[in-house]
Amino acid sequence: MKHLLRLGDLSGEEIIELLNLADQLKYERRNGIPHPHLAGKTLGMIFRKSSTRTRVSFEVGMYELGGMALFLSSNDLQIGRGEDTADTIRVLSRYLDGIMIRTFAQSEVEEMAATGSIPIINGLTDYCHPCQVLADLMTIRERKRSLAGLKLCFIGDGNNMANSLIVGGIKTGMAVSVACPSGHKPDAEIAAWAASNGSYTCTENVLEAAAGADVLYTDVWASMGQEDEAAERRRLFAGYQINRDVLGAAASDAMVLHCLPAHKGEEITQDVFDAHTDEIFEEAENRLHAQKAVMVRLMKNKA
Ligand code: CP
Ligand code: NVA
Repeated sequence: MKHLLRLGDLSGEEIIELLNLADQLKYERRNGIPHPHLAGKTLGMIFRKSSTRTRVSFEVGMYELGGMALFLSSNDLQIGRGEDTADTIRVLSRYLDGIMIRTFAQSEVEEMAATGSIPIINGLTDYCHPCQVLADLMTIRERKRSLAGLKLCFIGDGNNMANSLIVGGIKTGMAVSVACPSGHKPDAEIAAWAASNGSYTCTENVLEAAAGADVLYTDVWASMGQEDEAAERRRLFAGYQINRDVLGAAASDAMVLHCLPAHKGEEITQDVFDAHTDEIFEEAENRLHAQKAVMVRLMKNKA
Protein backbone atom coordinates (compact mmCIF):
# COMPACT_ATOMS: atom_id res chain seq x y z
CA MET A 1 0.00 0.00 0.00
CA LYS A 2 1.66 3.23 -1.21
CA HIS A 3 -1.28 5.64 -1.06
CA LEU A 4 -4.91 5.72 0.06
CA LEU A 5 -6.68 7.09 -3.00
CA ARG A 6 -9.84 4.92 -2.96
CA LEU A 7 -10.90 1.77 -1.11
CA GLY A 8 -11.08 -0.08 -4.42
CA ASP A 9 -7.25 -0.13 -4.44
CA LEU A 10 -7.17 -2.20 -1.21
CA SER A 11 -7.95 -5.87 -0.78
CA GLY A 12 -10.44 -7.00 1.86
CA GLU A 13 -7.46 -8.34 3.86
CA GLU A 14 -5.68 -4.98 3.73
CA ILE A 15 -8.83 -3.25 4.98
CA ILE A 16 -9.15 -5.70 7.89
CA GLU A 17 -5.44 -5.24 8.74
CA LEU A 18 -5.97 -1.47 8.91
CA LEU A 19 -8.98 -1.97 11.19
CA ASN A 20 -6.95 -4.26 13.44
CA LEU A 21 -4.20 -1.64 13.70
CA ALA A 22 -6.81 1.07 14.35
CA ASP A 23 -8.27 -1.02 17.21
CA GLN A 24 -4.79 -1.41 18.69
CA LEU A 25 -4.05 2.32 18.45
CA LYS A 26 -7.41 3.10 20.08
CA TYR A 27 -6.58 0.71 22.93
CA GLU A 28 -3.16 2.30 23.39
CA ARG A 29 -4.60 5.82 23.42
CA ARG A 30 -7.30 4.87 25.93
CA ASN A 31 -4.70 3.30 28.19
CA GLY A 32 -2.11 6.06 27.95
CA ILE A 33 0.39 3.86 26.10
CA PRO A 34 2.61 6.05 23.89
CA HIS A 35 2.77 5.07 20.21
CA PRO A 36 5.22 7.44 18.49
CA HIS A 37 5.46 5.49 15.23
CA LEU A 38 5.92 8.65 13.15
CA ALA A 39 8.38 10.60 15.32
CA GLY A 40 9.95 13.38 13.28
CA LYS A 41 7.59 12.94 10.31
CA THR A 42 5.45 15.66 8.75
CA LEU A 43 2.06 15.51 7.05
CA GLY A 44 0.72 18.31 4.83
CA MET A 45 -3.08 18.64 4.86
CA ILE A 46 -4.40 20.42 1.77
CA PHE A 47 -8.04 21.52 1.95
CA ARG A 48 -10.02 22.86 -1.01
CA LYS A 49 -13.23 22.29 1.01
CA SER A 50 -14.30 22.84 4.62
CA SER A 51 -13.77 20.26 7.37
CA THR A 52 -14.16 19.74 11.09
CA ARG A 53 -13.54 16.04 11.70
CA THR A 54 -10.99 15.31 8.98
CA ARG A 55 -8.82 18.29 9.77
CA VAL A 56 -8.81 17.87 13.53
CA SER A 57 -8.47 14.08 13.57
CA PHE A 58 -5.53 14.09 11.15
CA GLU A 59 -3.80 16.92 13.01
CA VAL A 60 -4.29 15.36 16.45
CA GLY A 61 -3.49 11.90 15.09
CA MET A 62 -0.19 13.03 13.64
CA TYR A 63 0.73 14.74 16.92
CA GLU A 64 -0.09 11.60 18.91
CA LEU A 65 2.07 9.54 16.55
CA GLY A 66 5.01 11.82 17.35
CA GLY A 67 4.91 13.80 14.13
CA MET A 68 3.58 17.15 12.98
CA ALA A 69 0.76 18.17 10.64
CA LEU A 70 0.54 21.36 8.60
CA PHE A 71 -2.88 22.76 7.72
CA LEU A 72 -2.67 24.07 4.15
CA SER A 73 -5.81 25.83 2.94
CA SER A 74 -5.94 26.10 -0.83
CA ASN A 75 -6.96 29.74 -0.32
CA ASP A 76 -3.49 30.42 1.03
CA LEU A 77 -1.46 28.15 -1.26
CA GLN A 78 -0.36 29.09 -4.78
CA ILE A 79 -2.60 26.29 -6.15
CA GLY A 80 -5.47 28.60 -5.14
CA ARG A 81 -4.00 31.10 -7.64
CA GLY A 82 -3.51 28.54 -10.39
CA GLU A 83 -0.13 26.91 -9.73
CA ASP A 84 -0.12 23.37 -11.17
CA THR A 85 -1.06 20.55 -8.84
CA ALA A 86 1.88 18.63 -10.32
CA ASP A 87 4.40 21.37 -9.53
CA THR A 88 2.95 21.80 -6.06
CA ILE A 89 3.33 18.13 -5.24
CA ARG A 90 6.88 18.02 -6.67
CA VAL A 91 7.82 20.79 -4.26
CA LEU A 92 5.93 19.42 -1.28
CA SER A 93 7.45 15.96 -1.80
CA ARG A 94 10.81 17.52 -0.92
CA TYR A 95 9.61 18.91 2.41
CA LEU A 96 7.00 16.47 3.69
CA ASP A 97 6.62 12.74 4.42
CA GLY A 98 2.98 12.52 3.37
CA ILE A 99 0.00 14.53 2.14
CA MET A 100 -3.68 14.36 2.93
CA ILE A 101 -5.84 16.22 0.42
CA ARG A 102 -9.55 17.10 0.40
CA THR A 103 -10.66 18.35 -2.98
CA PHE A 104 -13.29 18.14 -5.70
CA ALA A 105 -11.88 16.01 -8.51
CA GLN A 106 -10.63 12.49 -7.85
CA SER A 107 -8.25 13.07 -10.77
CA GLU A 108 -6.36 15.69 -8.74
CA VAL A 109 -5.66 13.14 -5.99
CA GLU A 110 -4.60 10.54 -8.55
CA GLU A 111 -2.35 13.09 -10.30
CA MET A 112 -0.63 13.88 -7.00
CA ALA A 113 0.04 10.20 -6.41
CA ALA A 114 1.41 9.80 -9.93
CA THR A 115 3.60 12.91 -9.82
CA GLY A 116 4.87 13.07 -6.25
CA SER A 117 7.20 10.78 -4.36
CA ILE A 118 5.40 10.62 -0.98
CA PRO A 119 2.19 8.87 0.17
CA ILE A 120 -1.07 10.62 -0.72
CA ILE A 121 -4.20 10.17 1.40
CA ASN A 122 -7.63 11.04 0.02
CA GLY A 123 -9.45 13.10 2.65
CA LEU A 124 -12.61 13.29 0.49
CA THR A 125 -13.32 13.98 -3.15
CA ASP A 126 -16.62 14.24 -5.01
CA TYR A 127 -16.06 10.58 -5.90
CA CYS A 128 -15.22 8.94 -2.58
CA HIS A 129 -14.35 9.26 1.11
CA PRO A 130 -12.21 6.25 2.03
CA CYS A 131 -11.00 7.52 5.45
CA GLN A 132 -14.60 7.94 6.62
CA VAL A 133 -15.55 4.44 5.58
CA LEU A 134 -12.57 2.89 7.38
CA ALA A 135 -13.89 4.56 10.56
CA ASP A 136 -17.41 3.36 9.73
CA LEU A 137 -16.28 -0.24 9.28
CA MET A 138 -14.33 -0.01 12.53
CA THR A 139 -17.44 1.23 14.35
CA ILE A 140 -19.65 -1.49 12.90
CA ARG A 141 -17.13 -4.21 13.80
CA GLU A 142 -16.81 -2.89 17.37
CA ARG A 143 -20.55 -3.29 17.91
CA LYS A 144 -21.35 -6.31 15.75
CA ARG A 145 -18.05 -8.19 16.33
CA SER A 146 -17.58 -9.01 12.63
CA LEU A 147 -18.56 -7.57 9.27
CA ALA A 148 -19.09 -10.51 6.92
CA GLY A 149 -22.74 -11.46 6.54
CA LEU A 150 -24.18 -8.16 7.81
CA LYS A 151 -26.53 -6.03 5.69
CA LEU A 152 -25.55 -2.36 5.27
CA CYS A 153 -28.21 -0.02 3.87
CA PHE A 154 -27.42 3.48 2.57
CA ILE A 155 -30.32 5.90 2.08
CA GLY A 156 -30.03 9.21 0.21
CA ASP A 157 -27.78 10.68 -2.45
CA GLY A 158 -25.61 8.24 -4.41
CA ASN A 159 -22.59 10.39 -3.57
CA ASN A 160 -18.99 10.02 -2.37
CA MET A 161 -20.16 8.34 0.85
CA ALA A 162 -22.40 5.90 -0.98
CA ASN A 163 -19.56 5.01 -3.37
CA SER A 164 -17.06 4.27 -0.61
CA LEU A 165 -19.58 2.43 1.58
CA ILE A 166 -20.47 0.13 -1.29
CA VAL A 167 -16.82 -0.72 -1.92
CA GLY A 168 -15.91 -1.07 1.76
CA GLY A 169 -19.03 -3.08 2.52
CA ILE A 170 -18.62 -5.52 -0.36
CA LYS A 171 -14.87 -5.96 0.24
CA THR A 172 -15.52 -6.94 3.86
CA GLY A 173 -18.31 -9.39 3.01
CA MET A 174 -21.37 -7.31 3.79
CA ALA A 175 -24.51 -7.19 1.66
CA VAL A 176 -25.08 -3.59 0.57
CA SER A 177 -28.43 -2.03 -0.37
CA VAL A 178 -28.91 1.54 -1.54
CA ALA A 179 -32.12 3.58 -1.74
CA CYS A 180 -31.86 6.72 -3.85
CA PRO A 181 -33.80 8.63 -6.53
CA SER A 182 -33.19 7.25 -10.02
CA GLY A 183 -31.15 10.23 -11.24
CA HIS A 184 -28.83 10.12 -8.23
CA LYS A 185 -27.50 6.59 -8.16
CA PRO A 186 -23.98 5.73 -7.00
CA ASP A 187 -21.17 5.59 -9.56
CA ALA A 188 -22.13 3.13 -12.32
CA GLU A 189 -18.74 1.37 -12.42
CA ILE A 190 -18.78 0.84 -8.66
CA ALA A 191 -22.35 -0.48 -8.83
CA ALA A 192 -21.42 -2.94 -11.60
CA TRP A 193 -18.34 -4.08 -9.69
CA ALA A 194 -20.40 -4.53 -6.51
CA ALA A 195 -23.08 -6.55 -8.27
CA SER A 196 -20.51 -8.97 -9.65
CA ASN A 197 -18.44 -9.25 -6.47
CA GLY A 198 -21.07 -9.57 -3.79
CA SER A 199 -24.66 -8.83 -2.81
CA TYR A 200 -25.65 -5.36 -4.06
CA THR A 201 -29.06 -3.84 -4.71
CA CYS A 202 -30.16 -0.33 -5.61
CA THR A 203 -33.81 0.74 -5.46
CA GLU A 204 -36.02 3.81 -5.17
CA ASN A 205 -37.95 2.05 -2.39
CA VAL A 206 -36.53 3.04 1.00
CA LEU A 207 -38.39 0.42 3.05
CA GLU A 208 -37.35 -2.33 0.65
CA ALA A 209 -33.69 -1.32 0.93
CA ALA A 210 -33.89 -1.07 4.73
CA ALA A 211 -35.60 -4.44 5.23
CA GLY A 212 -33.65 -6.48 7.78
CA ALA A 213 -30.63 -4.15 7.64
CA ASP A 214 -28.05 -4.37 10.44
CA VAL A 215 -26.74 -0.90 9.69
CA LEU A 216 -28.64 2.10 8.35
CA TYR A 217 -26.50 4.91 6.96
CA THR A 218 -27.28 8.31 5.52
CA ASP A 219 -25.52 11.52 4.51
CA VAL A 220 -26.52 15.05 3.54
CA TRP A 221 -28.70 15.56 0.46
CA ALA A 222 -26.47 18.40 -0.79
CA SER A 223 -22.73 17.83 -0.54
CA MET A 224 -20.00 20.44 -0.44
CA GLY A 225 -19.95 22.19 -3.79
CA GLN A 226 -23.71 21.61 -4.31
CA GLU A 227 -24.91 24.48 -2.10
CA ASP A 228 -26.71 26.12 -5.06
CA GLU A 229 -28.80 22.97 -5.56
CA ALA A 230 -29.81 22.63 -1.90
CA ALA A 231 -33.43 23.77 -2.31
CA GLU A 232 -34.03 21.58 -5.37
CA ARG A 233 -32.40 18.64 -3.63
CA ARG A 234 -34.62 19.07 -0.55
CA ARG A 235 -37.60 18.57 -2.87
CA LEU A 236 -36.05 15.69 -4.79
CA PHE A 237 -34.79 13.71 -1.81
CA ALA A 238 -37.82 14.18 0.45
CA GLY A 239 -38.61 10.67 1.68
CA TYR A 240 -35.02 9.44 1.40
CA GLN A 241 -34.71 9.81 5.13
CA ILE A 242 -33.92 7.61 8.12
CA ASN A 243 -36.97 7.93 10.36
CA ARG A 244 -38.93 5.68 12.72
CA ASP A 245 -40.69 3.84 9.88
CA VAL A 246 -37.41 3.05 8.17
CA LEU A 247 -35.85 1.96 11.44
CA GLY A 248 -38.90 -0.27 11.95
CA ALA A 249 -38.13 -2.09 8.70
CA ALA A 250 -34.51 -2.77 9.73
CA ALA A 251 -33.28 -5.44 12.16
CA SER A 252 -34.44 -4.81 15.73
CA ASP A 253 -30.85 -4.12 16.84
CA ALA A 254 -29.91 -2.05 13.78
CA MET A 255 -27.18 0.57 14.15
CA VAL A 256 -27.63 4.03 12.65
CA LEU A 257 -24.54 5.79 11.31
CA HIS A 258 -23.95 9.23 9.79
CA CYS A 259 -20.62 10.60 8.63
CA LEU A 260 -21.62 14.10 9.83
CA PRO A 261 -22.29 16.97 9.50
CA ALA A 262 -26.02 16.09 9.76
CA HIS A 263 -29.02 18.09 8.62
CA LYS A 264 -31.57 16.83 11.12
CA GLY A 265 -35.09 16.92 9.73
CA GLU A 266 -33.73 16.22 6.23
CA GLU A 267 -31.81 12.96 5.73
CA ILE A 268 -32.42 11.86 9.35
CA THR A 269 -35.08 12.78 11.89
CA GLN A 270 -34.10 14.40 15.17
CA ASP A 271 -35.53 11.52 17.22
CA VAL A 272 -33.64 8.79 15.36
CA PHE A 273 -30.44 10.84 15.51
CA ASP A 274 -30.86 11.41 19.26
CA ALA A 275 -31.51 7.71 19.89
CA HIS A 276 -28.28 6.74 18.09
CA THR A 277 -25.79 9.37 19.23
CA ASP A 278 -23.68 6.70 20.97
CA GLU A 279 -22.70 5.02 17.74
CA ILE A 280 -22.69 8.20 15.61
CA PHE A 281 -20.19 9.97 17.86
CA GLU A 282 -18.12 6.82 18.38
CA GLU A 283 -17.97 6.74 14.58
CA ALA A 284 -16.68 10.32 14.57
CA GLU A 285 -14.04 9.45 17.19
CA ASN A 286 -12.97 6.44 15.17
CA ARG A 287 -11.86 8.75 12.36
CA LEU A 288 -8.86 9.50 14.59
CA HIS A 289 -7.90 5.87 15.18
CA ALA A 290 -8.55 4.67 11.62
CA GLN A 291 -6.51 7.50 10.10
CA LYS A 292 -3.65 6.95 12.51
CA ALA A 293 -3.60 3.37 11.24
CA VAL A 294 -3.50 4.61 7.63
CA MET A 295 -0.65 7.02 8.38
CA VAL A 296 1.38 4.39 10.23
CA ARG A 297 0.90 1.93 7.39
CA LEU A 298 1.88 4.46 4.72
CA MET A 299 4.53 6.55 6.42
CA LYS A 300 6.36 4.39 8.98
CA ASN A 301 9.88 3.29 8.06
CA LYS A 302 9.76 5.17 4.76
CA ALA A 303 12.89 7.17 3.92
N1 CP B 1 -17.25 13.37 8.00
C1 CP B 1 -16.34 14.27 7.66
O1 CP B 1 -15.50 14.07 6.80
O2 CP B 1 -16.42 15.43 8.36
P1 CP B 1 -15.68 16.79 8.03
O3 CP B 1 -16.26 17.32 6.74
O4 CP B 1 -15.99 17.68 9.20
O5 CP B 1 -14.21 16.54 7.89
N1 NVA C 1 -21.21 13.96 1.01
C1 NVA C 1 -20.68 14.92 1.96
C2 NVA C 1 -19.79 14.23 2.95
C3 NVA C 1 -19.25 15.13 4.03
C4 NVA C 1 -18.33 14.40 4.97
C5 NVA C 1 -19.92 15.99 1.21
O1 NVA C 1 -19.19 15.66 0.28
O2 NVA C 1 -20.09 17.16 1.55
